[in-house]
Amino acid sequence: MSGRAPWWRGATVYQVYVRSFADSNGDGVGDFPGLISKLDYVAALGVDAIWLSPTHPSPNRDWGYDVSDYDIVNPEYGTEADFDRLLKEAHARGLRIMTDEVLAHTSDEHAWFVESLKGGEKADWYVWAPAREDGTPPNNWLSAFGGPAWSYHPARRASYHHKFLRQQPKLNWRADGARAAALAVLDSWLKRGVDGFRLDVANAFLHDTALRDNPAVPQSARDASYWSRAANMQLHRRDSNLEDNLQVLNEIRMRVERYPDRFVMGEFSEDPERCGAFASPSEGLHSGYSFPLLHADKLGPEFIRDHYRTLARFPAHWPSIAFSNHDVIRTVTRFGGEKAPPALARLLLALLVALRGTLLLYQGEELGLPEASLRRDQIRDPIGDLYYPLYRGRDGCRTPMPWDAAAPNLGFTTGSPWLPLAPEHRELAPSLQERDPQSTLSCARRLLAARRESDALRLGGIEFLDAPAPVLAFLRTCANDRVLCAFNMSADDVSFQSDLLRHAVPLPICTDESRIEGDVLAMNPYAAFFAHV
Ligand code: NOJ
Ligand code: CA
Repeated sequence: MSGRAPWWRGATVYQVYVRSFADSNGDGVGDFPGLISKLDYVAALGVDAIWLSPTHPSPNRDWGYDVSDYDIVNPEYGTEADFDRLLKEAHARGLRIMTDEVLAHTSDEHAWFVESLKGGEKADWYVWAPAREDGTPPNNWLSAFGGPAWSYHPARRASYHHKFLRQQPKLNWRADGARAAALAVLDSWLKRGVDGFRLDVANAFLHDTALRDNPAVPQSARDASYWSRAANMQLHRRDSNLEDNLQVLNEIRMRVERYPDRFVMGEFSEDPERCGAFASPSEGLHSGYSFPLLHADKLGPEFIRDHYRTLARFPAHWPSIAFSNHDVIRTVTRFGGEKAPPALARLLLALLVALRGTLLLYQGEELGLPEASLRRDQIRDPIGDLYYPLYRGRDGCRTPMPWDAAAPNLGFTTGSPWLPLAPEHRELAPSLQERDPQSTLSCARRLLAARRESDALRLGGIEFLDAPAPVLAFLRTCANDRVLCAFNMSADDVSFQSDLLRHAVPLPICTDESRIEGDVLAMNPYAAFFAHV
């Protein structure tokens, strides 16, 4: 089966936040030559592909997620030749490259929006509507980043829609010209040799042309999270997550499939059941990720079982699985608080590696980095400033990679870094972890090697076993390959009984944190256990 499966099924994709990965020229900003110098490190992890956070020019209102030119690379990160060399050097190491394409909106500095402001041919390339008589927005849509999802612009004496910042106007995918131009962006990067895409807010290509209000979330369905942002108090049914979004996803996938062996995966941040997120790989995108695992903060078997219960309702769908990325609090801190033990970082890695889907591993997750804590004057994320210190934005997971414990700026840059290095990351630098076979990094490499070598872990089905909490246990099975995976999701010693354990052949993954005694597995706090059974 593995011979016939497309490369991305069960693959591990390593997310590089380029700006914070490695700086080659001392300007404090990560870049392509810096990343090229670290490709051996990435290849040695045992991942299959790299997802590059946005690589196009951007005024950086939302740090690359506001693109001002899709045709070229961001000169802050290097030249066009540097990017092509990155592709070549990655391919030479067996690593595929995926770019992050942000096509649901553009920057307000993109030439398309500048033209749309004047009316003319591109008048309808964005979502324009008259303000109400009293100047207030056309409807109740709220921005994910706070305030109305509309801004009035005097140039058109009208309002334009933006789901995020006002500098991120929504591209109108219902206008033929805009849709064709967005699809042409994908074509040009496929021709250039990229192996696939991560599509930003893939749930939000279409809007309701009648501009009807979003309904309120019913009182009975509200929980504490609804109060974290006003936009969470409405169901995003009319500004995004439209059922016909699936047609757009389909069209995108078919464009991508004109090129052999490419992969297109999307981010689905809201209401994934409506907008095509869970379609089969031959109906929508090849795959997608949603947010339950990225937002979870209570360790325990249920958060995983719940998610797979949802996925089980869409058996033809191939999921992408992420605990961590550039938008959420780093996992060890989210699940373990400020004093999380290293064993928790290893448990979370083992869990990720054992799960069914295409894995998304965020830079630094392999090191067990905790969330960095920044002062208000160090914050660069526009939404970090809104409610500081109650909410500090997303910079705490975006601080630069700590490469070398002994070097200034932990080896990220010889200059002044765009975001500070976290002092608490020093002791977790690869320069130290490389030398320690029990380190989180060494464990991550063994785990990823185990996954690469097992059809069951990469491609197999998942079947949950009846284990008493706090143990999570499941079988991954593919033809004759069957792997039992068990996790102690607590700080206490536990044991887990199963007849399958009698003939288990444990895989050498983390440490000797578990012992089989007959049909009982004795597990230390946060132990993970994989065995052929
Ligand atoms: C999702 C991206 O992951 C996030 O970083 C960005 O702010 C929004 N989309 C808007 O593009
Ligand atoms: Ca640089």
